[in-house]
Amino acid sequence: MTNSKDDRLISPETEDSQESNIEKTLRPQMLNEYIGQDDVKNELNVYIKAAKQREESLDHVLLYGPPGLGKTTLAMVIANEMGVHIRTTSGPAIDKPGDLLSLLNELQPGDVLFIDEIHRLPKVVEEMLYSAMEDFYVDIVVGQGSGAHPIHFPLPPFTLIGATTQAGMLSAPLRDRFGIVEHMNYYHVADLESIVKRTADIFQIPILKSGAHEIALRSRGTPRVANRLLKRIRDFAQVAKKENIDLNIVRYALQKLKVDDLGLDDTDTKLLQTMIRYYDGGPVGLNTLAANIGEETDTIAEMYEPYLLQIGLIKRTARGRMVTHKGYKHLNYPVPKPDERN
Ligand SMILES: Nc1ncnc2c1ncn2[C@@H]1O[C@H](COP(=O)(O)OP(=O)(O)OP(=O)(O)O)[C@@H](O)[C@H]1O
Ligand SMILES: [Mg+2]
Repeated sequence: MTNSKDDRLISPETEDSQESNIEKTLRPQMLNEYIGQDDVKNELNVYIKAAKQREESLDHVLLYGPPGLGKTTLAMVIANEMGVHIRTTSGPAIDKPGDLLSLLNELQPGDVLFIDEIHRLPKVVEEMLYSAMEDFYVDIVVGQGSGAHPIHFPLPPFTLIGATTQAGMLSAPLRDRFGIVEHMNYYHVADLESIVKRTADIFQIPILKSGAHEIALRSRGTPRVANRLLKRIRDFAQVAKKENIDLNIVRYALQKLKVDDLGLDDTDTKLLQTMIRYYDGGPVGLNTLAANIGEETDTIAEMYEPYLLQIGLIKRTARGRMVTHKGYKHLNYPVPKPDERN
């Protein structure tokens, strides 16, 4: 079975897919329903309480971390906790300063504007955000030639929540304007297990603890992956006439889905194999690797590499990525002796 690119377990959400409806029903609404990310939650809890006590808008929030960890969900939770509306958009969707202005124009005092993939904002739009974030106004130039003149638009106080998978790609002036910066980490297995249980309860899927635990172990620390695996495993369980999802059916289904013990899929394996077979385990650059396995460099950088780094199968060096000994062992290749590597 080959997965198409849109059908992968670890692909990002797509706006109009059927899945996004399912995701909506799964999204926790309030902080106390949001599982895991305790440090982030504890901090936000304080800032939200304090802002509410002062009857002020919450300071601007930047959420960064790998895809599928719940950044969009958390932005919605923040708006709910503040008791305000949220408008959501994304960096690439805002072409021109005028687009941003019309979004800002619709905000009520205290509202949240959520910009996903904020690192992809066009430069002119980003520059317009500076004064909007800092002093709640924008100046835009209307007319042309000698008739050109600036118009000053005051804005209501609002909270910008930006999400990005690549904090390093944000310009310093933009990054500095976020008063609250939260790094989202991969989830602990116990938290993922709770997320799987919660999703199973919502969909009324009977699942045993052993099954939920195994799914959690193989979900790359990512709630979106955990939820997707659960849905597919449910199909296998149903066809096999299983009363509930237990360890055996999880293992069986994941073998069919080509998800290995660490949660790696075909692409991860291809990536590691390419590094080992053709580049002696590296160092090799990301662009070269991406071209070799027929993927976009961004896809590798955002979706595959961070997890392989996290679990220590590859490492970053000044000259490129290298497979670690653990990486060789995981793929059952003999670990090279020091003098065999350059
Ligand atoms: N802490 C959590 N508790 C329960 N479910 C969660 C949690 N975090 C995320 N989820 C679920 O995981 C899925 C993915 O979350 P979300 O869309 O918010 O991720 P994201 O970080 O915005 O991803 P992307 O970077 O791809 O936009 C959703 O279905 C959401 O309901
Ligand atoms: Mg999102």
